[in-house]
Amino acid sequence: MKRTILLTGGAGFIGSHVVRLFVTKYPDYTIVNLDKLTYAGNLENLIDIANQPNYKFVRGDINDTVLINQLFDDYQFDAVIHLAAESHVDRSITDPGSFIQTNIVGTVNLLNVALAKWQPKMAQNTDHNLRFYHISTDEVYGSLGAEGSFVESTAYSPRSPYSASKASSDHLVRAYNHTYKLPIVISNCSNNYGPNQFPEKLIPLAINNIKNQWSIPIYGKGENVRDWLYVEDHAHAIDVVFHQAKTGETYNIGGDNEWSNIKLIYKLCELMDVKLGRKPGESAQLITYVKDRAGHDLRYAIDATKIKTELGWKPLFTFDKGLELTVEWYLKNENWLNNVISGDYQNYYDTQYVQR
Ligand code: NAD
Ligand code: TYD
Repeated sequence: MKRTILLTGGAGFIGSHVVRLFVTKYPDYTIVNLDKLTYAGNLENLIDIANQPNYKFVRGDINDTVLINQLFDDYQFDAVIHLAAESHVDRSITDPGSFIQTNIVGTVNLLNVALAKWQPKMAQNTDHNLRFYHISTDEVYGSLGAEGSFVESTAYSPRSPYSASKASSDHLVRAYNHTYKLPIVISNCSNNYGPNQFPEKLIPLAINNIKNQWSIPIYGKGENVRDWLYVEDHAHAIDVVFHQAKTGETYNIGGDNEWSNIKLIYKLCELMDVKLGRKPGESAQLITYVKDRAGHDLRYAIDATKIKTELGWKPLFTFDKGLELTVEWYLKNENWLNNVISGDYQNYYDTQYVQR
């Protein structure tokens, strides 16, 4: 079956894995990747598929109504997979405004255009493939104590500007379904890790610091717990939800893989000692406790029973395997890492892409 999908944020970490999966697995689909190429967007993530005939890249902002309208007219999308966002909690603490603008206002802009363009088909009930899929986070549910996990009916209680902006966009996406019958689906995923993640997030930041013998900053006491999922398992879950979910539904996605930050970092240090040929315990000496993040959520944990039982998804990568693949990727892709740290990757679009 032919489909034409507007995928936003495809030059980022998770988006690039989703683009690659869809472009290679579904040759009959056309994937239009709309990305503003902020500091987090990097076309080097997609070099291997950039010339595929069913892939198009458009540099642009999800807030640009004229552009989005034009793209809908040009491509006649029957689906939107919306990943574009400002995604880092620490940045949201110092600059909440950009999170509001992209995550909330930008999402409403996409919803408005999709609704306007799809309304005639919705009224005639002629296209059952229409789907607006919003990719979201478990952080909308707030923070857990030592016990329990988030289910889809857990009340929202976002506590950082990032999670509040994602919660707002989730609410708006649901409101467009309830009010206007826009065919939507949402998934809320736990912390991702894997290749191509910008080295501001804990795992790639720690890998880079360990490699360079720099200190590894642990916020507070390192007792905060996150539930880690390998990025390809998330991309696979997005594929399953996109194709199989009932309209209007929400699915939690997680790896049943909880780690306190400090235990995770010790595990990573052990692995890096082996990979770098260092003495056991050498990398762990870099661990440095620093001032805690403001409003630092204690624990996130996902109950993924619904997607497992209803849609048959399960993670395929153990944490040992995923972490090893991640470390190997970062050690092998020094240029990628150096380019994103220096900012040089931002020249890639101008030097490689536009002139082609
Ligand atoms: P990322 O920061 O790596 O990538 C975000 C992408 O969006 C970048 O390519 C950036 O250029 C683009 N972008 C930002 N603002 C834009 C705008 N105004 N218009 C167009 N493009 C814009 O993020 P990620 O970690 O890949 O996360 C992707 C999505 O998944 C986000 O919606 C995030 O909330 C969600 N999510 C992330 C995680 C995680 O652990 N990283 C977990 C659950 C959900
Ligand atoms: P992060 O990767 O920023 O993801 P999120 O805040 O969305 O969960 O952080 C993961 C955990 O690691 C979180 O508890 C904060 C902590 N952390 C550190 O201790 N040191 C760091 O340098 C970073 C970036 C995060």
